[in-house]
Amino acid sequence: MSRTPEKTTVSIIKADVGSLAGHHTVPKPLLDIGEKRLKEAQKNGLINSYYVFHAGDDLELLMVHTRGESNPDIHKLAWDTFKEAAKKASSLKLYGAGQDLLKQAFSGNIRGMGPGVAEMEIEERRSDPIVVFAADKTEPGAYNYPMFRIFADPANTAGLIIDPNMSGGFKFEVLDTVENKKIVLKCPEEMYELIALIGTPGRNVVSRVRRARDDLICATTSTTRLALIAGRYVGKDDPVSIVRAQHGLPALGEILVPFMHSYFVEGWMRGSHWGPLMPVGLKDSRCTLFDGPPRIVALGFQVGNGKIASDDDGVPLISDLFDDPAFDMARREAIEYAAVLRRMGEFEPARLSAEVMEYTTLPQVLEKLRARFKPA
Ligand code: F6R
Ligand code: MG
Ligand code: MG
Repeated sequence: MSRTPEKTTVSIIKADVGSLAGHHTVPKPLLDIGEKRLKEAQKNGLINSYYVFHAGDDLELLMVHTRGESNPDIHKLAWDTFKEAAKKASSLKLYGAGQDLLKQAFSGNIRGMGPGVAEMEIEERRSDPIVVFAADKTEPGAYNYPMFRIFADPANTAGLIIDPNMSGGFKFEVLDTVENKKIVLKCPEEMYELIALIGTPGRNVVSRVRRARDDLICATTSTTRLALIAGRYVGKDDPVSIVRAQHGLPALGEILVPFMHSYFVEGWMRGSHWGPLMPVGLKDSRCTLFDGPPRIVALGFQVGNGKIASDDDGVPLISDLFDDPAFDMARREAIEYAAVLRRMGEFEPARLSAEVMEYTTLPQVLEKLRARFKPA
């Protein structure tokens, strides 16, 4: 009898639980709590591997285990870690302590409670290269453009033309975050319809990508909308994503080449501006300039035997992919675009459209003027 191969799950769960000197970075004591908690969980056998890092002011918990997606114990581990880090942040009077923890009691799944979640359960291939992206000062739709480039654009991904394993195309699951409905569109056949939808990244978000010929899971992104959970503006959703690479899927380089140039995303200062996304190494993962520019880090690693491939001391082998001069041009462009936009101040299109500003504090400012309007 053939054994069902055990599946491995990659989970990345993140939250802004407090930052140093404003909203720009996660200080070491909070990272240490992440490290301590996940190390404990690894020792107890709940998870097999982990890596704690930060993207700007977001504490990021990368965990590899065999418990599947939406597992209550894994989600509780993340929730308890964030709670403890938030408590530490409060005691240090750090800024925005506990900001993304929008609910009180944990009830089995961290989704809808504030933190962002991307999870992917995989049947391990002979070798499984993975890229995890984490961005700050932007929103889940920020991945729409690179996901399109990676999985649908033959000018980006040579494999779509050259590798027969990919020529059947890819299926995109798109979530309408306002109506909370999803649709699956297949490329290349429905490419134009796909762009028609995901060209509105503030609303429609690529949530999963599968290879069309066998439904192999290739990519997943977090899709939270904090404002819709909280009923008010509490910061952007600062998204995470997991992408699988190689051997009949886009190569690592095809996954990274969309970041050769900076492109524009919603978020930045007060979650209210268009800003250029800047790919950075972990050492530069701090949102300083006008609380930005929105930044993205990318980590590359191998998943095998239910864990992240590690060195002899058990330290996971992680490649900090954007810590590379190859992305200097994108970084330079990001600063140049930032200067162009900031020159416009609070005039559209530097500031987001009025419709999107509904989810910020701007309506409170305009409320004062309402009674002063007279018929024209
Ligand atoms: C955006 C963000 C920051 C803050 C800004 C104002 O996601 O976190 O840009 O919106 O620093 O913060 P408060 O209102 O806390 O002073
Ligand atoms: Mg924040
Ligand atoms: Mg953040």
